[in-house]
Amino acid sequence: MKTKIEKIFKEKFGEGGTLYASAGRINLIGEHTDYNGGFVFPGAIDKVIMAEIKPNGTDKVRVFSIDIDDYAEFGLREEDAPSQGWARYVFGVCREIQKRGGVVKGFDAVFAGNVPLGAGLSSSAALESCFAFALNDMFNDNKIDKFELARIGQSTEHNYCGVNCGIMDQFASVFGRKGNLMRLDCRSMEYEYFPFNPVGYELVLVDSKVKHELKDSPYNKRRESCERVAKRLGMDTLRDATMEQLNAVKTDITAEDYFRAKFVIEEKQRVLDVCDALNAGDYETVGACMYATHEGLSKDYEVSCEELDFLNDVAKELGVIGSRIMGGGFGGCTINLVKNELHDKFIEEVKVRFKDKYGHEPAVYDVVISDGARKVED
Ligand code: GLA
Repeated sequence: MKTKIEKIFKEKFGEGGTLYASAGRINLIGEHTDYNGGFVFPGAIDKVIMAEIKPNGTDKVRVFSIDIDDYAEFGLREEDAPSQGWARYVFGVCREIQKRGGVVKGFDAVFAGNVPLGAGLSSSAALESCFAFALNDMFNDNKIDKFELARIGQSTEHNYCGVNCGIMDQFASVFGRKGNLMRLDCRSMEYEYFPFNPVGYELVLVDSKVKHELKDSPYNKRRESCERVAKRLGMDTLRDATMEQLNAVKTDITAEDYFRAKFVIEEKQRVLDVCDALNAGDYETVGACMYATHEGLSKDYEVSCEELDFLNDVAKELGVIGSRIMGGGFGGCTINLVKNELHDKFIEEVKVRFKDKYGHEPAVYDVVISDGARKVED
């Protein structure tokens, strides 16, 4: 990827610039909890977006996406927003830095990536974090702190891409550290690195290849449901809500809102339980929580789909210790905690059974927990 980017940069813009990268993410547990002030438990992975960038001495940004094979050129004022969806991520990052008083000057960029798109692995957060990190390094002497870099990505989603997301993906992409998951409290923003080395187990992603598009999707609707219930309870978020409190207002809210909030309240506790279980080396409990999350996401939060439920059933049948839909939902991957000795058989079987039913093989990725946003040294 690096060689390809360097070659194309040279062809398009001449003498080389500086290379930066940022990562996609997994999330062990804690889904749809970030925008509810709860806990998440993500880690960055070895799949990245990489960009070569160089100031060009003008007030224009010129950027080429190798994977989409498309070029965009835009100025840095609000009215200069590009029309291509992918370029709005880069434009948004520039604008959000400027809005915070940071400096962005014209630059040339070429980027590519190996984070599968629409698979729930946060390719968009990787793109935002890569450019946020790069522009901080290039024009701002790294004065913008890492949390603000994550928020710049998140605001880009809100203001330029139509997704009212939480902070998990950008946090994971910016803060990721090799071999570590991170437990983030999305209210206080306190976080802790957790060395992740489940002895005897591996994490495997199975990508249904059902494309999810969070923009204009029911994702924003889920968030609205949670906000309505929090308001009814007189709270800022569902973070401190209990099932007793929720049950007390059950007749005042819609059944749909009730089940959305129920999931969030239960999921908050599961993240804490998984952390304790990991500390105790109790993978059975970790796995049981993952299955419970899947059940909640499918039945109560309703962000699953037939293919993902099928993948979950197959995992259970084959004796996989934990499996669940991962990320925003509506397609993408399941994350599976698989015993080493079952690894090969699971992959083989899940591919065959899925193909029999849906006509195409799922993609399978072994998870390697890696570093987040960085400058790529030679
Ligand atoms: C998407 C969002 C995140 C988070 C997850 C669900 O990935 O970008 O902020 O809400 O969905 O946990």
